[in-house]
Amino acid sequence: MEKLYDQYDRLHDYVRISITDRCNLRCVYCMPKEGLPFFPTDRVLSQDEIVQLITNFARLGVHKVRITGGEPLLRTDVVDVVRRVKAVDGIEDVSITTNGLFLAKKAAALKDAGLDRLNISLDTFKPDVYKKITRGGNINQVLDGIATAAKLHFKKIKLNIVLIRGQNDDEVLDFIRYTKDNDVNVRFIEFMPIGNSLEDWKEEYVALDSVFDLCQQAGLKYHPIDLAGNGPSDNYQVEGYTGSFGLIHPISSKFCENCNRLRITADGYIKACLYWNEEINVRKLIYDFDAFKAGVKRALDNKPLNHEMAMKTTDRIIDKAPTWRHMSQIGG
Ligand code: GTP
Ligand code: 5AD
Ligand code: SF4
Repeated sequence: MEKLYDQYDRLHDYVRISITDRCNLRCVYCMPKEGLPFFPTDRVLSQDEIVQLITNFARLGVHKVRITGGEPLLRTDVVDVVRRVKAVDGIEDVSITTNGLFLAKKAAALKDAGLDRLNISLDTFKPDVYKKITRGGNINQVLDGIATAAKLHFKKIKLNIVLIRGQNDDEVLDFIRYTKDNDVNVRFIEFMPIGNSLEDWKEEYVALDSVFDLCQQAGLKYHPIDLAGNGPSDNYQVEGYTGSFGLIHPISSKFCENCNRLRITADGYIKACLYWNEEINVRKLIYDFDAFKAGVKRALDNKPLNHEMAMKTTDRIIDKAPTWRHMSQIGG
């Protein structure tokens, strides 16, 4: 079996594929407040193209796939996408990252189609703060979605919380305490300056060391744990609690040396790194495996060792630029 290594010897066995750039929210860390023009339908990969792409990747040693968006549940064929991706020879783990708004409606069908895992964005427990962060969302819809999914015996459900100074950073302990009786993994995520101005971002960014300080002040004893997943979260459990919490800290402590993933955008480009602008269009190569493989290898050969988020690239001479895409056009 062929395997995908980059020039730093990092094995790539995980693909995150964005199946739509559309979203029914406009979260402050993900999209500009005026929204974004969405891609016309024919710019977005078709179901057959997605399946062929994943089939090609499976031949190259990929066995984990995360389906992202925009909001992936907005795609009317998402259940079929999951069923067909899960059926690809060699694919063992299929997961979705969703805002949860349509989960109450779709979770059972997704489970039935073979979806293994769900990560759900929930940045706050407060309805008014939720509305503000998501620019209009109704938190009850997500809570219903989470409750529905929890009954369906997915592997560990994860909640994603991007910490934003002055908006939800007072809820860290509420989220951790939620794991006392709920068997979920809540993950605090550092706000990444992708598609945001660095000046605004600096005001809102929260470094995740503060989570440990808060636990200590509250007398919560925790220990590191191993948890199934393909991503960058470091996980911990408070003693005696059912669930666990995780930290995703791309800024305060980079995890790039262990990067195992490639991203595919909804319009069929490989992004070898979330941060940089380099992309390779593989859509036109999907049905020619050798050409596809060469395209993937080219993307890997050019994959940088690290991101440079939070650095002022304009101050230095560099040969690369940060991505033109907003997070919603990458899939996180
Ligand atoms: P599992 O660990 O498999 O459950 O998935 P995950 O945590 O990788 O997926 P998810 O889509 O839930 O991502 C959670 C957060 O991690 C999001 O903010 C992503 O943008 C961020 N993230 C995931 N992969 C990377 C990465 O390679 N680099 C950076 N900087 N952030 C990442
Ligand atoms: N910084 C950190 N995480 C982000 N996400 C979206 N935009 C950002 C950002 N700027 C997260 C969402 C979602 C996942 C796909 O990516 O919270 O859970
Ligand atoms: Fe990988 Fe780039 Fe993320 Fe670093 S920032 S972990 S290299 S995708």
